[in-house]
Amino acid sequence: MRVGVLTGGGDCPGLNAVIRAIVRKGTKHYGDDILGFRDGWRGVMDNDFDTLDINGLRGTLPRGGTVIGTSRINPYMYPDGVDKVRSCIDANNLDCIIAIGGEGTLSCSAELFKAGLPILGVPKTIDNDIGITERTFGFDTAVTIATEAIDRLHSTAESHNRVMVVEVMGRHVGHIATWAGLAGGATFTLIPEEPFDIDDVCASLSRRHEKGRYASIVVVAEGAKPKEGTFEVPADSYDEYGHIVLGGIANKVASEIETRTGFETRVTILGHVQRGGTPTALDRVLSSWYGVAAIDAAHDEAWGQMVALVADRVVRVPIADAVRELKFVNPQLWETAQEFFA
Ligand code: F6P
Repeated sequence: MRVGVLTGGGDCPGLNAVIRAIVRKGTKHYGDDILGFRDGWRGVMDNDFDTLDINGLRGTLPRGGTVIGTSRINPYMYPDGVDKVRSCIDANNLDCIIAIGGEGTLSCSAELFKAGLPILGVPKTIDNDIGITERTFGFDTAVTIATEAIDRLHSTAESHNRVMVVEVMGRHVGHIATWAGLAGGATFTLIPEEPFDIDDVCASLSRRHEKGRYASIVVVAEGAKPKEGTFEVPADSYDEYGHIVLGGIANKVASEIETRTGFETRVTILGHVQRGGTPTALDRVLSSWYGVAAIDAAHDEAWGQMVALVADRVVRVPIADAVRELKFVNPQLWETAQEFFA
Protein backbone atom coordinates (compact mmCIF):
# COMPACT_ATOMS: atom_id res chain seq x y z
CA MET A 1 0.00 0.00 0.00
CA ARG A 2 1.00 3.64 -0.36
CA VAL A 3 -0.01 5.58 2.73
CA GLY A 4 0.17 9.32 3.43
CA VAL A 5 0.58 10.56 7.01
CA LEU A 6 0.11 14.08 8.37
CA THR A 7 0.02 15.82 11.74
CA GLY A 8 -2.38 18.77 12.05
CA GLY A 9 -3.28 21.40 14.66
CA GLY A 10 -1.23 22.22 17.75
CA ASP A 11 1.68 19.87 18.33
CA CYS A 12 1.61 17.40 21.17
CA PRO A 13 4.05 14.98 22.85
CA GLY A 14 3.66 11.53 21.25
CA LEU A 15 3.18 12.58 17.61
CA ASN A 16 6.54 11.14 16.58
CA ALA A 17 5.77 7.91 18.40
CA VAL A 18 2.57 7.51 16.32
CA ILE A 19 4.44 8.22 13.06
CA ARG A 20 7.20 5.79 14.05
CA ALA A 21 4.65 3.06 14.85
CA ILE A 22 2.85 3.54 11.51
CA VAL A 23 6.16 3.33 9.65
CA ARG A 24 7.44 0.35 11.68
CA LYS A 25 4.40 -1.85 11.17
CA GLY A 26 3.64 -0.45 7.72
CA THR A 27 7.06 -1.12 6.21
CA LYS A 28 8.15 -4.20 8.19
CA HIS A 29 4.89 -6.13 8.34
CA TYR A 30 3.04 -4.96 5.22
CA GLY A 31 5.82 -3.68 2.93
CA ASP A 32 4.10 -0.28 2.58
CA ASP A 33 5.49 2.98 1.24
CA ILE A 34 4.79 5.79 3.72
CA LEU A 35 4.79 9.46 2.72
CA GLY A 36 4.97 12.09 5.48
CA PHE A 37 3.24 15.30 4.36
CA ARG A 38 4.83 18.43 5.74
CA ASP A 39 2.86 20.84 7.94
CA GLY A 40 -0.45 19.02 7.95
CA TRP A 41 -2.96 19.57 5.15
CA ARG A 42 -0.71 22.31 3.75
CA GLY A 43 1.74 19.62 2.62
CA VAL A 44 -1.03 17.59 0.98
CA MET A 45 -2.38 20.59 -0.93
CA ASP A 46 1.14 21.58 -2.04
CA ASN A 47 2.25 17.98 -2.67
CA ASP A 48 5.12 18.55 -0.24
CA PHE A 49 6.29 15.34 1.46
CA ASP A 50 9.21 13.20 2.59
CA THR A 51 9.34 9.44 2.24
CA LEU A 52 9.48 7.94 5.73
CA ASP A 53 11.45 4.86 6.66
CA ILE A 54 12.51 3.06 9.83
CA ASN A 55 16.09 4.34 9.75
CA GLY A 56 15.06 7.96 9.34
CA LEU A 57 12.83 7.72 12.38
CA ARG A 58 15.36 6.19 14.76
CA GLY A 59 15.53 8.08 18.05
CA THR A 60 12.19 9.81 17.59
CA LEU A 61 10.15 7.82 20.15
CA PRO A 62 11.03 10.10 23.08
CA ARG A 63 11.23 13.29 21.01
CA GLY A 64 8.55 15.97 21.47
CA GLY A 65 6.93 17.87 18.58
CA THR A 66 6.50 16.33 15.14
CA VAL A 67 9.27 15.53 12.66
CA ILE A 68 6.94 16.24 9.72
CA GLY A 69 5.72 19.60 11.03
CA THR A 70 2.18 20.77 11.66
CA SER A 71 -0.17 23.67 10.93
CA ARG A 72 -3.77 24.64 11.45
CA ILE A 73 -4.34 25.03 7.69
CA ASN A 74 -7.15 22.92 6.27
CA PRO A 75 -8.43 22.38 2.69
CA TYR A 76 -11.83 23.91 3.46
CA MET A 77 -10.14 27.30 3.86
CA TYR A 78 -9.54 27.38 0.07
CA PRO A 79 -12.03 27.11 -2.81
CA ASP A 80 -9.87 24.48 -4.55
CA GLY A 81 -8.56 22.84 -1.33
CA VAL A 82 -10.51 19.58 -1.58
CA ASP A 83 -9.62 19.20 -5.28
CA LYS A 84 -5.96 19.65 -4.39
CA VAL A 85 -6.19 16.88 -1.78
CA ARG A 86 -7.84 14.63 -4.36
CA SER A 87 -5.16 15.44 -6.96
CA CYS A 88 -2.38 14.74 -4.47
CA ILE A 89 -3.88 11.34 -3.61
CA ASP A 90 -4.17 10.49 -7.32
CA ALA A 91 -0.75 11.86 -8.30
CA ASN A 92 1.02 9.83 -5.61
CA ASN A 93 -1.12 6.77 -6.11
CA LEU A 94 -2.04 6.83 -2.42
CA ASP A 95 -4.38 4.26 -0.92
CA CYS A 96 -5.20 6.55 1.98
CA ILE A 97 -4.15 9.39 4.25
CA ILE A 98 -3.83 8.93 8.02
CA ALA A 99 -4.55 12.29 9.70
CA ILE A 100 -3.22 12.61 13.23
CA GLY A 101 -4.93 15.57 14.84
CA GLY A 102 -7.40 17.14 17.21
CA GLU A 103 -10.88 18.55 16.82
CA GLY A 104 -10.05 20.75 13.78
CA THR A 105 -8.03 18.18 11.81
CA LEU A 106 -10.48 15.37 12.55
CA SER A 107 -13.59 17.44 11.66
CA CYS A 108 -11.95 18.24 8.34
CA SER A 109 -11.08 14.52 7.90
CA ALA A 110 -14.73 13.58 8.48
CA GLU A 111 -15.77 16.03 5.74
CA LEU A 112 -13.14 14.74 3.31
CA PHE A 113 -14.33 11.20 3.92
CA LYS A 114 -17.90 12.35 3.19
CA ALA A 115 -16.52 13.81 -0.04
CA GLY A 116 -15.37 10.29 -0.99
CA LEU A 117 -11.71 10.38 0.07
CA PRO A 118 -9.96 7.50 1.89
CA ILE A 119 -9.06 9.09 5.24
CA LEU A 120 -8.31 7.59 8.66
CA GLY A 121 -8.00 9.49 11.94
CA VAL A 122 -5.78 9.27 15.02
CA PRO A 123 -6.88 11.48 17.96
CA LYS A 124 -4.26 13.79 19.46
CA THR A 125 -4.48 16.71 21.83
CA ILE A 126 -3.14 17.58 25.25
CA ASP A 127 -6.69 18.85 26.00
CA ASN A 128 -8.11 15.27 25.94
CA ASP A 129 -11.42 16.63 24.60
CA ILE A 130 -12.09 14.34 21.61
CA GLY A 131 -15.34 12.39 21.89
CA ILE A 132 -15.66 8.61 22.41
CA THR A 133 -11.97 7.92 23.04
CA GLU A 134 -11.17 7.73 26.74
CA ARG A 135 -7.74 9.25 26.20
CA THR A 136 -5.80 11.25 23.65
CA PHE A 137 -2.01 11.02 23.77
CA GLY A 138 -0.23 14.13 25.04
CA PHE A 139 -2.72 14.57 27.88
CA ASP A 140 -0.73 12.53 30.39
CA THR A 141 2.43 14.50 29.58
CA ALA A 142 0.64 17.84 30.00
CA VAL A 143 -0.86 16.74 33.34
CA THR A 144 2.55 15.55 34.52
CA ILE A 145 4.20 18.87 33.60
CA ALA A 146 1.40 20.91 35.23
CA THR A 147 1.49 18.77 38.39
CA GLU A 148 5.24 19.21 38.73
CA ALA A 149 4.80 22.97 38.36
CA ILE A 150 2.10 23.00 41.05
CA ASP A 151 4.32 20.94 43.38
CA ARG A 152 7.06 23.53 42.93
CA LEU A 153 4.70 26.44 43.50
CA HIS A 154 3.59 25.02 46.86
CA SER A 155 6.94 25.64 48.54
CA THR A 156 7.36 29.19 47.31
CA ALA A 157 3.69 29.98 48.14
CA GLU A 158 4.24 28.68 51.69
CA SER A 159 7.49 30.61 52.17
CA HIS A 160 5.79 33.89 51.25
CA ASN A 161 2.26 33.26 52.53
CA ARG A 162 0.93 33.86 49.05
CA VAL A 163 -1.87 32.77 46.81
CA MET A 164 -0.53 31.32 43.57
CA VAL A 165 -2.81 31.26 40.53
CA VAL A 166 -1.67 28.73 37.90
CA GLU A 167 -3.16 28.84 34.41
CA VAL A 168 -3.17 25.62 32.38
CA MET A 169 -4.37 24.90 28.84
CA GLY A 170 -7.93 23.81 28.10
CA ARG A 171 -9.97 26.01 25.82
CA HIS A 172 -13.37 24.39 26.20
CA VAL A 173 -12.75 21.67 28.75
CA GLY A 174 -10.97 21.36 32.07
CA HIS A 175 -9.36 17.91 31.88
CA ILE A 176 -5.80 19.17 32.45
CA ALA A 177 -6.92 21.54 35.23
CA THR A 178 -9.00 18.89 37.01
CA TRP A 179 -6.33 16.18 36.89
CA ALA A 180 -3.36 18.41 37.68
CA GLY A 181 -5.33 20.26 40.37
CA LEU A 182 -6.25 17.00 42.06
CA ALA A 183 -2.76 15.53 41.66
CA GLY A 184 -1.08 18.73 42.87
CA GLY A 185 -3.36 19.38 45.86
CA ALA A 186 -4.84 22.63 44.55
CA THR A 187 -6.94 24.74 46.91
CA PHE A 188 -9.32 25.48 44.04
CA THR A 189 -9.66 24.49 40.41
CA LEU A 190 -11.67 26.53 37.91
CA ILE A 191 -12.79 24.86 34.67
CA PRO A 192 -14.79 25.95 31.59
CA GLU A 193 -17.56 23.43 32.29
CA GLU A 194 -18.45 25.05 35.66
CA PRO A 195 -18.63 28.87 35.66
CA PHE A 196 -17.19 30.02 38.98
CA ASP A 197 -18.28 32.59 41.51
CA ILE A 198 -15.31 34.73 42.52
CA ASP A 199 -17.11 35.72 45.76
CA ASP A 200 -17.25 32.06 46.81
CA VAL A 201 -13.60 31.50 45.86
CA CYS A 202 -12.45 34.54 47.88
CA ALA A 203 -14.66 33.73 50.88
CA SER A 204 -13.26 30.19 51.03
CA LEU A 205 -9.69 31.45 50.71
CA SER A 206 -10.31 33.90 53.59
CA ARG A 207 -11.79 31.17 55.81
CA ARG A 208 -8.80 28.95 55.03
CA HIS A 209 -6.34 31.69 55.93
CA GLU A 210 -8.27 32.40 59.19
CA LYS A 211 -7.64 28.78 60.11
CA GLY A 212 -3.91 29.38 59.87
CA ARG A 213 -3.21 28.18 56.32
CA TYR A 214 -1.65 31.16 54.59
CA ALA A 215 -0.70 29.68 51.25
CA SER A 216 -3.13 28.61 48.52
CA ILE A 217 -2.91 27.33 44.95
CA VAL A 218 -5.70 28.14 42.51
CA VAL A 219 -5.54 26.22 39.20
CA VAL A 220 -7.39 27.92 36.34
CA ALA A 221 -8.08 26.39 32.92
CA GLU A 222 -7.48 29.04 30.24
CA GLY A 223 -11.14 28.75 29.16
CA ALA A 224 -12.61 29.10 32.67
CA LYS A 225 -15.46 31.61 32.86
CA PRO A 226 -16.93 33.51 35.81
CA LYS A 227 -20.66 33.21 36.47
CA GLU A 228 -22.52 35.81 34.49
CA GLY A 229 -22.59 39.24 36.06
CA THR A 230 -19.92 38.45 38.69
CA PHE A 231 -17.02 40.24 37.01
CA GLU A 232 -15.89 41.37 33.59
CA VAL A 233 -13.31 39.38 31.62
CA PRO A 234 -11.57 40.65 28.46
CA ALA A 235 -13.50 39.98 25.23
CA ASP A 236 -12.45 36.82 23.34
CA SER A 237 -10.16 37.23 20.33
CA TYR A 238 -9.65 34.81 17.43
CA ASP A 239 -6.62 33.72 15.42
CA GLU A 240 -6.44 33.63 11.59
CA TYR A 241 -7.98 30.13 11.59
CA GLY A 242 -11.00 31.22 13.63
CA HIS A 243 -9.74 29.55 16.83
CA ILE A 244 -10.40 31.38 20.04
CA VAL A 245 -7.17 32.83 21.51
CA LEU A 246 -7.15 32.49 25.27
CA GLY A 247 -4.61 32.98 27.98
CA GLY A 248 -4.93 35.63 30.61
CA ILE A 249 -7.91 34.66 32.78
CA ALA A 250 -5.40 33.88 35.57
CA ASN A 251 -4.31 37.53 35.72
CA LYS A 252 -7.89 38.64 36.12
CA VAL A 253 -8.64 36.02 38.79
CA ALA A 254 -5.44 36.90 40.68
CA SER A 255 -6.19 40.60 40.73
CA GLU A 256 -9.74 39.95 41.99
CA ILE A 257 -8.39 37.69 44.76
CA GLU A 258 -5.79 40.24 45.83
CA THR A 259 -8.27 43.13 45.81
CA ARG A 260 -11.05 41.27 47.61
CA THR A 261 -9.00 39.36 50.21
CA GLY A 262 -5.88 41.48 50.63
CA PHE A 263 -3.71 38.34 50.23
CA GLU A 264 -0.58 38.76 48.16
CA THR A 265 -1.16 36.84 44.90
CA ARG A 266 1.13 35.79 42.04
CA VAL A 267 0.39 34.30 38.61
CA THR A 268 2.08 31.50 36.62
CA ILE A 269 0.87 30.84 33.08
CA LEU A 270 2.24 27.47 31.96
CA GLY A 271 1.26 27.92 28.29
CA HIS A 272 3.13 25.94 25.65
CA VAL A 273 5.52 24.39 28.17
CA GLN A 274 2.70 21.85 28.64
CA ARG A 275 2.97 20.84 24.99
CA GLY A 276 6.74 20.68 24.64
CA GLY A 277 9.38 18.05 25.25
CA THR A 278 9.43 14.33 25.75
CA PRO A 279 6.20 12.32 26.15
CA THR A 280 5.63 10.33 29.35
CA ALA A 281 5.89 6.53 29.19
CA LEU A 282 2.08 6.31 29.18
CA ASP A 283 1.84 8.64 26.15
CA ARG A 284 4.58 6.74 24.30
CA VAL A 285 2.66 3.51 24.81
CA LEU A 286 -0.71 4.98 23.78
CA SER A 287 0.83 6.64 20.70
CA SER A 288 2.51 3.40 19.62
CA TRP A 289 -0.74 1.51 20.15
CA TYR A 290 -2.70 4.04 18.07
CA GLY A 291 -0.09 4.03 15.29
CA VAL A 292 -0.13 0.25 14.90
CA ALA A 293 -3.95 0.20 15.04
CA ALA A 294 -4.11 2.95 12.37
CA ILE A 295 -1.96 1.11 9.83
CA ASP A 296 -3.97 -2.08 10.49
CA ALA A 297 -7.16 -0.05 9.84
CA ALA A 298 -5.62 1.13 6.55
CA HIS A 299 -5.12 -2.46 5.45
CA ASP A 300 -8.75 -3.21 6.33
CA GLU A 301 -9.72 -0.14 4.23
CA ALA A 302 -11.67 1.19 7.21
CA TRP A 303 -12.00 4.66 5.68
CA GLY A 304 -13.71 7.34 7.74
CA GLN A 305 -12.73 5.59 10.99
CA MET A 306 -10.65 6.88 13.89
CA VAL A 307 -8.74 4.73 16.36
CA ALA A 308 -9.92 5.20 19.94
CA LEU A 309 -9.28 3.86 23.41
CA VAL A 310 -12.51 2.38 24.75
CA ALA A 311 -12.67 0.11 27.82
CA ASP A 312 -8.93 -0.52 27.66
CA ARG A 313 -8.94 -1.61 24.02
CA VAL A 314 -8.02 0.32 20.89
CA VAL A 315 -11.05 0.12 18.61
CA ARG A 316 -12.31 1.93 15.47
CA VAL A 317 -15.10 4.49 15.59
CA PRO A 318 -16.47 6.78 12.86
CA ILE A 319 -14.50 10.05 12.88
CA ALA A 320 -17.78 11.94 12.43
CA ASP A 321 -19.14 10.46 15.69
CA ALA A 322 -15.98 11.30 17.61
CA VAL A 323 -16.05 14.98 16.62
CA ARG A 324 -19.82 15.44 17.06
CA GLU A 325 -19.34 16.81 20.56
CA LEU A 326 -16.44 17.54 22.86
CA LYS A 327 -15.70 15.24 25.75
CA PHE A 328 -16.16 17.12 29.02
CA VAL A 329 -14.70 16.37 32.44
CA ASN A 330 -16.16 13.26 34.00
CA PRO A 331 -18.75 14.58 36.53
CA GLN A 332 -17.78 11.93 39.09
CA LEU A 333 -14.13 12.98 38.90
CA TRP A 334 -15.10 16.66 39.18
CA GLU A 335 -17.14 15.87 42.30
CA THR A 336 -14.14 14.07 43.74
CA ALA A 337 -11.85 17.01 42.96
CA GLN A 338 -14.23 19.37 44.77
CA GLU A 339 -13.88 17.37 47.99
CA PHE A 340 -10.35 18.79 48.27
CA PHE A 341 -11.18 22.45 47.67
CA ALA A 342 -10.20 25.09 50.30
O1 F6P B 1 -5.67 22.48 21.27
C1 F6P B 1 -4.55 22.39 22.06
C2 F6P B 1 -4.15 23.71 22.61
O2 F6P B 1 -2.98 23.40 23.28
C3 F6P B 1 -5.16 24.43 23.50
O3 F6P B 1 -5.26 23.99 24.81
C4 F6P B 1 -4.65 25.85 23.42
O4 F6P B 1 -5.67 26.78 23.67
C5 F6P B 1 -4.20 25.95 22.00
O5 F6P B 1 -3.83 24.65 21.60
C6 F6P B 1 -3.08 26.92 21.77
O6 F6P B 1 -2.83 26.96 20.40
P1 F6P B 1 -1.63 27.73 19.70
O7 F6P B 1 -0.45 26.82 19.73
O8 F6P B 1 -2.12 27.98 18.33
O9 F6P B 1 -1.37 28.96 20.50
